[in-house]
This record gives sequence, structure tokens and C-alpha cells, in this order.
Amino acid sequence: MRVLVVHGPNLNLLGIREPEVYGNATLAGIDAELGELAGELDVELECFQSNQEGDIVDRIQEAMGKVDAILINPAGLTHTSVTLRDALLATGIPFIEVHLSNIHAREEFRHRSLLADAAVGVICGFGSSSYTLGLRGLVACL
Ligand code: DQA
Repeated sequence: MRVLVVHGPNLNLLGIREPEVYGNATLAGIDAELGELAGELDVELECFQSNQEGDIVDRIQEAMGKVDAILINPAGLTHTSVTLRDALLATGIPFIEVHLSNIHAREEFRHRSLLADAAVGVICGFGSSSYTLGLRGLVACL
């Protein structure tokens, strides 16, 4: 199974960005933890982060026919991006949406996801474990 991990804008700052909300794990640490789990689950993993919405759309389009699933933390784009939703639907690649924080326990504007109804599942609120739970969920469901 081949999985593309996509991290949205500002997640490159994990570790120093609002640690009381997002925890102390760095993006490199999360990718390393996912890589280790992927080895155990016999998953081929590629991780990608960008602060640019268009680059994320390009990366998702490139993945068409090459990956079996996407594990995505769309970050702020969760709440705003019709373009990202369209890219995911256009490629037809099944995806799981993850968030470090519990977006439903935060500001009202974070309660709505433009992607969630199209996702295989959504995991939020478990800090960096949201990612590993998401990867396990993908392997279990697909
Ligand atoms: C986030 C939640 C989003 O609301 C926020 O914009 C982020 C990170 C999370 O992982 O908790 O950048 O996706």
C-alpha cells in the first residue's frame, strides 16, 4: 500500500508554533514516527509539506494513479479551501483528514471542514498521535 502524507500551511513550524495547542512534536518527528509505523504496517510512505495551496493541489494531482490513499492535515485550508476539496475529489484518491487539535473545541470558524464529508474518516484532538491513528485507520479500512 502506498500512502501520501500531506501537511498543510504552517505545520512546518510545529514544535515552536503554539505548543499549548499543537504540542511539542516537530514535523520531522511526526514524519519519523509515521515512517516507523509504515515499516511495521508494510506501507510505502511519502511525506509532503507546503505553505502554498497551489503546490498542495499539484502534489495531490501528481499522486493520481501512484498512491492508494492520502493522509492529510489540511491545517487552515480545512476551513477555507474549495480548491483543495476539488483536487481530492477530482483525483478520487481516498483520504483521511487528521488534526492535532480538537477543532470542534476551538473557535467556531474551525468547526467546519470543507473536506470532512468526503473523507474516509476524520481524526482530531490526539496531538501527533492523530497521524499514527489515521495511518492505522487507512490500513484497516482500505
Ligand atoms: C490544525 C487545526 C487547524 O484549524 C489549524 O488551522 C491548523 C492545524 C490541527 O492540526 O489541529 O493549522 O489542522
